[in-house]
Amino acid sequence: MKVYIGSDHGGFELKQELLKLWPSMLNIPTQTNLSDVGCFTNSSTDYPDLAENVCTRIINDYMSQPKIIASEDAFAYNSLGILVCGSGQGMAMKANKYAQIRAALCWSPEITALAREHNNANILCLPGRFLNSSVAIEMVRVFLTTPFAKGRHALRVEKI
Ligand code: RB5
Repeated sequence: MKVYIGSDHGGFELKQELLKLWPSMLNIPTQTNLSDVGCFTNSSTDYPDLAENVCTRIINDYMSQPKIIASEDAFAYNSLGILVCGSGQGMAMKANKYAQIRAALCWSPEITALAREHNNANILCLPGRFLNSSVAIEMVRVFLTTPFAKGRHALRVEKI
């Protein structure tokens, strides 16, 4: 599985922390390949541009798969994303403009689990100015390891 991570300046510090903590994620039960798509300094930048970097990569990867439907398990997908800005809000708004993206603004491991189980979220949006790195890395772990519950949730996700 590929994981793309992006942030603006508001999420830069938390993204750097997550990149540092990433090796501790290597024992999750799936092989992940992390790719940082920017920003690369804490200079002011526009969050829609970084959201686009992550979303277009995920969509390109999806296009190379034979068939993608919402009811499939996340692990059938070859890519997931993590977007961090100050509040997480702008990243979620931009990412959800893409039909293939279901971006979830989350603030706890429990909300993150529900975003995977019920909504089959393929992007985790984090509020970088409001989360400490230990909570955030646990949210990332939950995001990458919680399967979609399918069943009645699949019908609802298909209606999105
Ligand atoms: C940047 O100051 C801030 O607006 C941005 O990081 C994000 O919170 C937008 O939703």
